[in-house]
Amino acid sequence: METLAQGLSVRLDGVTARHPASGEGAPPAIAQLSLSISPGEQVAVIGPSGAGKTTFLALIGAALQPVSGSVFLDEQSIWQCSSAALRRARSTLFYAPQTPPLPPRQRVVTALLAARLPTQSLLQSLSQLVYPRGVDQAIEALAQFDLADKIWERVDRLSGGERQRVGLARALLSPAKLWLIDEPLSALDPARSQQAISTLTRVARARGVTLIVSLHQVGVATSAFPRVIGLRHGRCEFDLPGVQVTQDRLAQLYAQKEHELTGAPIIDDLAPAPSAPKIVHCR
Ligand SMILES: Nc1ncnc2c1ncn2[C@@H]1O[C@H](COP(=O)(O)OP(=O)(O)O)[C@@H](O)[C@H]1O
Ligand SMILES: [Mg+2]
Repeated sequence: METLAQGLSVRLDGVTARHPASGEGAPPAIAQLSLSISPGEQVAVIGPSGAGKTTFLALIGAALQPVSGSVFLDEQSIWQCSSAALRRARSTLFYAPQTPPLPPRQRVVTALLAARLPTQSLLQSLSQLVYPRGVDQAIEALAQFDLADKIWERVDRLSGGERQRVGLARALLSPAKLWLIDEPLSALDPARSQQAISTLTRVARARGVTLIVSLHQVGVATSAFPRVIGLRHGRCEFDLPGVQVTQDRLAQLYAQKEHELTGAPIIDDLAPAPSAPKIVHCR
């Protein structure tokens, strides 16, 4: 099932973005953000609600055009290329929104196999609806999330957590070189959360896929990700290895929103840094 892909690189250069529905005078959702992410890197994005995490993923996923600045995928500026090139860029990434867009009456198998569509012709895609091929791969992907027995189930008969895990299993079927996953654990209990994150990071690493995940669970972010970006008011507050994200930094990141700080890691702020300091990419 492993198909080796060279992960996409990502670069944001002075990016400012607004939510399409926000008023003219509203502060930007992302403000003057510059950073780069290497192919195959695994990055967690944390921060209180409204910090800009979803907007950040939408910008990288070519779903939202910045007001100013540039977004590069594999060093191609995605809004300064032809619409065909923009379509091609979108087809090389997989974006999993917090609520997966699974048609309620669809069977799980169909929803999963649709994730392979970018590599299929229109005819293959249509025939896929009638004669699903790749069912073994779909079962294998579901099994990673303990859902293999749901393969023929209808999506609207699944619980919220099961639907969320089906949404994540779609990543495993996708041929994408960049996975953008928005709050994948919001409907999962701690054990399922652990399983979901270790599956995503393990498979992404094995395939060389670049993985960017927004998370509410800061403990999961700091323990499972080599790099954690803290966003607040659309700005980068820190960009550090997970093991260097101290309680102190988290307290600052979530100031006035402490109730959102769940599963924080226990790191003694006075202890020496466990590994060499990482270059801070954002400014
Ligand atoms: N539906 C919306 N209408 C208007 N503004 C919005 C909407 N959604 C988000 N925003 C603006 O964008 C900012 C960032 O939102 P978002 O990226 O969804 O943050 P997060 O994912 O960290 O909760 C919000 O603080 C708000 O100002
Ligand atoms: Mg969000």
